[in-house]
Amino acid sequence: MEKDALIYIRTLGHQGDGIGAPVAGDTTGEALYVPFTLPGETVRAPGKGARRMAAEIVSASVDRIEPFCDHFIRCGGCQLQHMAEPAYLQWKTGLLAAALEREGIEKPLEPIRHYPRGSRRRAVLTAQKSRGQWQFGYSGRRSHDVVDIAACPILCGELQDSLPAVRLFLDLLGRHGIGRRGTVRIVLLAAENGIDCAVSFTGSAADRLIREIPAHTAAKAFLRIALNDEIVFERQRPVLKAGTALVAPPPGSFVQAVAATENDMASLAVDHLADCRKVADLFCGSGAFALRLAQNSVVHAAESEQAALDALDRAWRETGGRLKALTHERRDLFKRPFMAAELKSFDGVAFDPPRAGAEAQCRELAKSTVKKIAAISCNPQTLARDLHILIDGGYRLKSVTPVDQFAFTPHLEAVALLER
Ligand SMILES: C[S@@+](CC[C@H](N)C(=O)[O-])C[C@H]1O[C@@H](n2cnc3c(N)ncnc32)[C@H](O)[C@@H]1O
Repeated sequence: MEKDALIYIRTLGHQGDGIGAPVAGDTTGEALYVPFTLPGETVRAPGKGARRMAAEIVSASVDRIEPFCDHFIRCGGCQLQHMAEPAYLQWKTGLLAAALEREGIEKPLEPIRHYPRGSRRRAVLTAQKSRGQWQFGYSGRRSHDVVDIAACPILCGELQDSLPAVRLFLDLLGRHGIGRRGTVRIVLLAAENGIDCAVSFTGSAADRLIREIPAHTAAKAFLRIALNDEIVFERQRPVLKAGTALVAPPPGSFVQAVAATENDMASLAVDHLADCRKVADLFCGSGAFALRLAQNSVVHAAESEQAALDALDRAWRETGGRLKALTHERRDLFKRPFMAAELKSFDGVAFDPPRAGAEAQCRELAKSTVKKIAAISCNPQTLARDLHILIDGGYRLKSVTPVDQFAFTPHLEAVALLER
């Protein structure tokens, strides 16, 4: 056996890989990264580089459990099915705690919110032709090759049930030359009333294909089908509940992946901002938060995607006056954040940016007179940076709640509530 093949795993990195050092040898040397291992384990991982795969778990952690999915390890979708829930949730909470600590923010975290397996209502899948056959599933770990999956237990039942129809639909697309160049991306959404399917690929869809879709068996499984953002089939608009409103998000657009997560994050924000007269919802998407905030407050929503704003506007108009006034604006909030002077008429702000965070916006908020802020985030690092800016600007951090929307992965959402 190679001298340095036995590795003791000290900790889990922020990507979920075990990090360790050779049992015999120089333990002060470079760290070795061994995915699918756990702290306290000794594993045999022969090889030369800093990244290795474990060939054998020589002594297993008490937190090691049997993964529930047959595709685990080969499929790049999940990284942490082999870890018992208490240890997993502790590690995940620790990701946020460490990010806050690095920014010098001392705030005990609220208990992590977590959700049952099989609650994912939105999935982004990939299909790729290999020797004339579709491979349909998720990209492999650190690879662009698609791992074909028979099932995905992470998904809600409705999405799992729709997978055979997606394969059937891929066969139709393949007959029309789609997938000859590059991969095909499929975004599935289990809406309140059925499944939305948005497919994107290199090239364009022939008219002949578009005419065939409505009569094709696969179409029966879907409410709406879009090819490269163009709706080519629609039995009904797929709708999601946003409080008392029903919103039909544009095909393939951003939607919180788990409905219960969206409810929880929105409730935290809505309760915090409930006594605000006028609230700005920034990076509002199709209005998951704005439409709920408008139950209590006048809302101005801003976002860079026009199609998302159109969906929000229609949802608000269809409530027939049940909600307070909700205006919207297309705006690049990285380049043109709301300036402190513009924020004068608002007493509350919610923001939910992409992974890059909302640095420019927070610099203006820090100078503003806004009383209450709800910061929703999908990246602990940028959240911590943004909170630091707000705290320096005079805000008090009331609470930070980790939200495990993407279970069994290293991704973590959080909701932070602040006030002046
Ligand atoms: C994490 S999503 C949140 C959407 C919405 N709050 C929700 O929960 O459904 C972030 C949103 O920011 C928008 N976005 C991305 N870059 C932006 C920018 N530079 N300016 C404004 N909006 C942006 C995206 O289109 C997306 O809708």
